[in-house]
Amino acid sequence: MATLTVSLGERSYPILIGEGLLPRLGEHLREKGRNLSRGTFLVSNPTVFSLYGPVAEGALQAQEFSVTPCLVEDSEKAKSLDWAARLYDAAIEAGLDRRSPIIALGGGVVGDLAGFVAATYMRGVPFIQVPTTLLAQVDASVGGKVAVDHPRGKNLIGAFYQPQMVVIDVNTLQSLPARQVRAGLAEVVKYGVIWDADFLDFVETNAARLLNGELFLMQQVVHRSCAIKAQVVSQDERESGPRAILNFGHTVGHAIETLTGYSSYHHGEAVAMGMAAEGRIARALGLWSGEEQSRLEKLLIALQLPVSLPPSFAAKEALAVMVRDKKATEQRLTLVLPKHFGEVTVYRDLPAETVLQVLEAR
Ligand code: NAD
Ligand code: GLY
Repeated sequence: MATLTVSLGERSYPILIGEGLLPRLGEHLREKGRNLSRGTFLVSNPTVFSLYGPVAEGALQAQEFSVTPCLVEDSEKAKSLDWAARLYDAAIEAGLDRRSPIIALGGGVVGDLAGFVAATYMRGVPFIQVPTTLLAQVDASVGGKVAVDHPRGKNLIGAFYQPQMVVIDVNTLQSLPARQVRAGLAEVVKYGVIWDADFLDFVETNAARLLNGELFLMQQVVHRSCAIKAQVVSQDERESGPRAILNFGHTVGHAIETLTGYSSYHHGEAVAMGMAAEGRIARALGLWSGEEQSRLEKLLIALQLPVSLPPSFAAKEALAVMVRDKKATEQRLTLVLPKHFGEVTVYRDLPAETVLQVLEAR
């Protein structure tokens, strides 16, 4: 097992990464948990709970934690105030107190929702992330962004609320559908582009084996991705500056998700299209080279991810969404654009006309 640390003073926490960590979840809570009650609240969904619920419950009970499971629907729709309210009801019903940990067992949807409830129930209770998708293991479970969606936009209601620990059992990736593995790999590519060119080489060299879900390699990419994210978050927890680089590919990606109603593409697929499009915008502005752009697109294609914008993509509407994006300030178009592999910059006030031309060309 490897341990990384997100360094945030008294809110610092460990990320445990390895095989077979879920059957020892109770031990990890006992050893690394801070001031936890015995009553735990396990948030999951029926898909994940049927695969891993009994192991998680058994592991907790073996260490004398009691478990109240609470399952939410398996879709982005679970990230709603309605589902949050149902979790508050269940938490009150179960008699959870201020020290009762809320444990998120699932992908980014379960993690974001359970984290939002943990941040707000009794003004904040201990939160434990047990991510089971590649996307959640490399990104969503680390860094404390928790949220529910609003009909007018994704993640509009939320908080920065750090977990007490993140327990990543890479064995859970064995049951993950191939399309979800590919979606997670998009975020892995993102880390290579924004931070670490050598890591990008590694992903390129091992693309086929990663697509096959080889666990040893998966563990390596989870570890490097979490190490990069931990470093970025430790520098800028609340995204007042450098953390924004984690949004590479996400501004166009979110516009795609918004315009397609969050149903046509997985988050990682939208991010892949977003990275390719934002790379083309960087090209049009003369910020990075054609060779690098084509290498990025080739890698995404090798990982069986989409690089062209969807056929129905309405560039003008997308631009309007991008200007409204919550990462934009004062309605100025803000994008994270690549300069070289391993280096990106946040650009504000970009010329809308150029961006529109690139988006229209798809
Ligand atoms: P998800 O949570 O919907 O999970 C994808 C699917 O995989 C679901 O059907 C789920 O039931 C299933 N699943 C989960 N683990 C499984 C396993 N081990 N075996 C088989 N099936 C499994 O999707 P996701 O991609 O994990 O997360 C997307 C969400 O994460 C979005 O809401 C996005 O906004 C959010 N997100 C948050 C952050 C953050 O920093 N908080 C970062 C990135 C994404
Ligand atoms: N996923 C972007 C962030 O955590 O900041």
